Amino acid sequence: MKVLFLGDVIGRAGRTAIQSNLKNIQKSNQIDFTIINGENSAGGFGITENICKDLYSYGCDVITTGNHLWDQKEISDYIERDNNLLKPYNFPQGTPGLGFNIYKTKQNDAIMVINLIGNVFMKSDDNPFLKVEEILKKNQLNSELKFIFVDFHAEATSEKVAMGHHLDGRVTAVVGTHQHVPTADSHILPKGTAYQTDAGMCGDYNSIIGMSKEPILDRFQGIKSKSKFSPAMGEATICGVIIESDAETGLAKNIKPIKVGGVLGV
Ligand SMILES: [Fe+2]
Repeated sequence: MKVLFLGDVIGRAGRTAIQSNLKNIQKSNQIDFTIINGENSAGGFGITENICKDLYSYGCDVITTGNHLWDQKEISDYIERDNNLLKPYNFPQGTPGLGFNIYKTKQNDAIMVINLIGNVFMKSDDNPFLKVEEILKKNQLNSELKFIFVDFHAEATSEKVAMGHHLDGRVTAVVGTHQHVPTADSHILPKGTAYQTDAGMCGDYNSIIGMSKEPILDRFQGIKSKSKFSPAMGEATICGVIIESDAETGLAKNIKPIKVGGVLGV
């Protein structure tokens, strides 16, 4: 199975790039299933029902999220009606929405997507290393479940690398999000799990991690800024990874980073 995962979509620039390019990327790489982290897609802060529907119409199958999930008020009602929009599973008990789910590809193969969030240098949530065990106790790679994908939305590289090794050999892929810069460490871990510390963002890289430079530069210099934080509007680079799994074991055969368009495009 070939799965495309794209990192955090930042505002309109990211959405437009996905609208223009996703179908081509899927076709030229024979993609079976597409997952996108959408937590910054609404003006950099959160996601709305309409944006979810737009991303699905562009070819996205499942949307993962992170710390900005609740920034748009409407989403806490909507997520209860949309099983393809995931929250981090280790958010506090009682939080609306699903943190993992099993889906079907076009070939009718089962794929599980798990969304987790980190605790280091972030608001503290339930322990992701312990919470993921609740899911894996009941769900393992087997002849029915051919792919398990984990989006670990975290700030600290060490926490992400640790999660990769924690899950090595038990899931198909662990890919990080939230840092908005793609890391150059895609590889297969010793027991067969594909790993990359951060997928990078789908956004304008002529920016400060996707946002217009001026107010952020002002803040770093201690200057009261005249402008608000807003997404940079230049051409976005679509960043992510393509993971190919072994049909027999469900473990990874290959992980390949992609960068399409904009400043980082190759
Ligand atoms: Fe984030």
